Formats: sequence, C-alpha cells, structure tokens
Amino acid sequence: MDNQKKIPLILDGDPGHDDAIAWVIAASDPRFEIKAITTVAGNQTLAKLTRNAGKIAALLDLDIPVAEGREVPLIADLMTGGDYHGETGLDGPVLPEPKYPPSELSAVEMMAKVLRESEEPVIIAATGPQTNVATLLLTHPELKHKIRLISTMGGGLRNGNWTSAAEFNLLNDPEAAYIEYHSGVPVQMCGLDVTEQAIIYPEEWEKIRALHNPVAETVAGWLDFFQIKLKDLGWEGVTLHDPCAVLSLVHPEIFEMHDYYVEIVLDGEYTRGLTMADYKGTTGNKPNCTAVTGIDREKFVECLIEACSRFGGKETV
Ligand code: RIB
Ligand code: CA
Repeated sequence: MDNQKKIPLILDGDPGHDDAIAWVIAASDPRFEIKAITTVAGNQTLAKLTRNAGKIAALLDLDIPVAEGREVPLIADLMTGGDYHGETGLDGPVLPEPKYPPSELSAVEMMAKVLRESEEPVIIAATGPQTNVATLLLTHPELKHKIRLISTMGGGLRNGNWTSAAEFNLLNDPEAAYIEYHSGVPVQMCGLDVTEQAIIYPEEWEKIRALHNPVAETVAGWLDFFQIKLKDLGWEGVTLHDPCAVLSLVHPEIFEMHDYYVEIVLDGEYTRGLTMADYKGTTGNKPNCTAVTGIDREKFVECLIEACSRFGGKETV
C-alpha cells in the first residue's frame, strides 16, 4: 500500500464480534481514512446490527455515517447466525449508545456517494454477506472504476463452516458473491483457509486487557464472550475471521496469497455456497481474486495487540 496517501475505506459488515474487532483495527491505523460504515443482515437481523454499528462507532469515536443495508439476501431467504454472537449480535461488554441515528441514505447509496466524492479509488472491507456490495455493483456499474479493492471475509477453498461445503457469509448470499467475483472489480478473498488459522488464545488477549484502555478492555470482553460459543464447537481460542480482511490490507507480509479463478457454486442441495479454486487451470479462466490462504499467527496477534494499544495504555507485546 502507498504509505503517503491515506487509504479511503468503507466498512461493510454484520457486527458481530469479529466484524467489530476488524473495525477496531481499521480505526487504529492512521493509514486508513474510514469514510462510512454500512450494515448488512447476517449474524443477526439488520436492525440489531445497525444499532451495534452505531455503538461501535461511538466506542471508537468515529464521526462517520452509518448507513443501513439490505434486510435480506438478493434471492435466498435470510439465515441469521442464531445466538452465535448472542441475542443482540454483539453480546458481552456494555457499549456506549450510538451518537446519532443511521443515515437517511441506504448503504448502497452511501457507498455510491463515497465513491463519487472520493478523489482516490476506495477499498471496501466487506465482512458479512456480500449483498450490499453486489447491489452496489448492479446499481452503479459506472462507479466500478472507483473501487480499488473489495477485501472480503467469505468462502473457504478447503471446507465450509455452516455446511461442509459453505462458509456462513457465502451461503447467506451466494448470488451476491457470484456477482462480485464476476464483476471485474479486484476481489481479495479471506476465506476459512486463512481465517481458521487466525486464532488468538486467552493468555494472549489478557495482554490486550492489560492495556487498560476502554477499547482494549472491550475487545477482551468480546473475546471472552465469543470464546464461550467456540468452545462448545471444540475450538481452543477464538478464530478471528473478519480482522483478516482488514489486517491483510496493511500487513500483507504476514499473509500468504495466491491469485486464483474462484467459482461460486449456486446450486446443489449440498454444494450451494461452495467456493472452488481452479488450481489446475482447467476452466481456462483468468484469476478473478486474490485468495489469502495462510498467516503468521503470532505476528497476527502482535498486530492486534499493537492496534488495541493505539487507543491508550502501554504496549505489552
Ligand atoms: O464465517 C465467519 C463469518 O460469519 C464472519 O464474518 C462472522 O462475523 C460471520 O458473519
Ligand atoms: Ca461478519
């Protein structure tokens, strides 16, 4: 990334504990200029997630618009994450109230406004179902050239997590992902291949709590809550899916990436939402995404601790 100019960034997600931590990383890094937050239904219903987004913006002292996106996927029925992230979608620490109501503009019109007004092409970090981004691409094809990159959390080239084949965000709206991956706009795919390696352990997030600033203490509290759910699923530690989509923008050196043609499978009782990489070149198609497939886990954790330290308190890395 060019270190001179700030990177204009739109955060689109379904906060969600890991979306929230991804947004903490984005807000901590002076190389980003966050232009807007947009919400999409996924981990919970849209109204709950939009309220969470307003609370996270207040916690991070971000004076930027929060715009509400689509309540349901393009074609599929809405599938929420149940109580995976709790009743509110962001259970755990008490957060400040939103400083202002959501924007009058929809998420898509807010995204379009940011793209139109930005001198520099904009990065969209999309960490929920890709419904808003796909709708933007369909509604405003004339603005595609103003999107520098869509950095997504979604899919998995080796496995799913909601079905054996499909990851939650992808399965929630496969048609949206299909539109995105066939749009010609640069896409970075942080799938389960990398995000299930992005694990933080309790003794590591105690270092975050020990920073003793409100944001760090909140991040530790989110991890405390999220661990309960993951332990039931047999995980030790917490897999930080969405933060990969942001951290890979400013610390690509700690990630492994490969350009692949990735197909999004839309049909089949057991295969819908599958993301299949053409490793052998048999489709004859050029790559349509950069797949992030590996990570230096220890460095990832160091970057997260360092990001949390930027909100006050001493570094304990
Ligand atoms: O499968 C993980 C993804 O689903 C993450 O984005 C998490 O927030 C949920 O949306
Ligand atoms: Ca998410």
